[in-house]
Amino acid sequence: MAGDVIDGKAFAGALRERIGTGAAAFAEQAGRKAGLAVVLVGDDPASQVYVASKGKATVAAGMESFEHRLPADVDQPALEELVRRLNADPAVDGILVQLPLPRHLDDKAVIALIDPAKDVDGLTDANIAALANQQPGLFPCTPFGCMMLLQDRLGDLSGLDAVVIGRSQLVGRPMAQLLVNANATVTIAHSRTRDLADVVRRADIVVAAVGRPEMVRGDWIKPGACVIDVGINRLDPEPGAAKGRLVGDVAFEEARAVAGAITPVPGGVGPMTIAVLLRNTLVAAHRNAG
Ligand code: GUN
Repeated sequence: MAGDVIDGKAFAGALRERIGTGAAAFAEQAGRKAGLAVVLVGDDPASQVYVASKGKATVAAGMESFEHRLPADVDQPALEELVRRLNADPAVDGILVQLPLPRHLDDKAVIALIDPAKDVDGLTDANIAALANQQPGLFPCTPFGCMMLLQDRLGDLSGLDAVVIGRSQLVGRPMAQLLVNANATVTIAHSRTRDLADVVRRADIVVAAVGRPEMVRGDWIKPGACVIDVGINRLDPEPGAAKGRLVGDVAFEEARAVAGAITPVPGGVGPMTIAVLLRNTLVAAHRNAG
């Protein structure tokens, strides 16, 4: 029997409803709406789509959205000045600088400037340390959303074998840390891992975040495992089609045949990222107002 398809879109929708209720209560209490500032540098089409949907979701949740679009050739001092201004602005509870930045900019220096209390991406050193030390903080949206889906599906993760494929700052590393904090036994696999298929075969939980279309095959999956696919890859268009299909890092149909449960692409992890971004903004607003 094929595994269950985890409906991330529905889960995120329910979460956004609850955040909307919380945002209304915050506005009532604080006399202002919670606010999220998103900074987009340049005109990368994918980033523009992400930023537009973040803005829409923010407003739909009853929060203030501040969008700052800077030209692709903006210099480092101008971008840093904007971040300083947002840090100082009491209407801004969360700051997200859309990544990747154009190559001439130093993303680490920009992130280091963000006030950790407004760092809704969880990328500053202070929030990375909070995650490692199991202290309160703001944690990266995509891994946090994956944890919500895993805990909803599996309950207690104690003692389960988990493999995270990918070691990025935004997904792989924080994902592994969240899983360890939840008492899973965690392997971080990456491009240098030997016999990746074999490593994956041992896992009760597979989180794929490598950005390689359909790399994880069905015969790598342990029967009954829970598979979380973070990848969003667009394939080349079929003849006659304007756009290629969106696929994840996992060969969905093959893996579903073996897995206990699996997230689809699209409609799995993607909607969770934005919902958690709104959650983090509301959490930051309460802390900053309180
Ligand atoms: N680019 C793709 N995903 C993300 C994200 O979650 N946060 C930021 N800042 N940039 C991204």
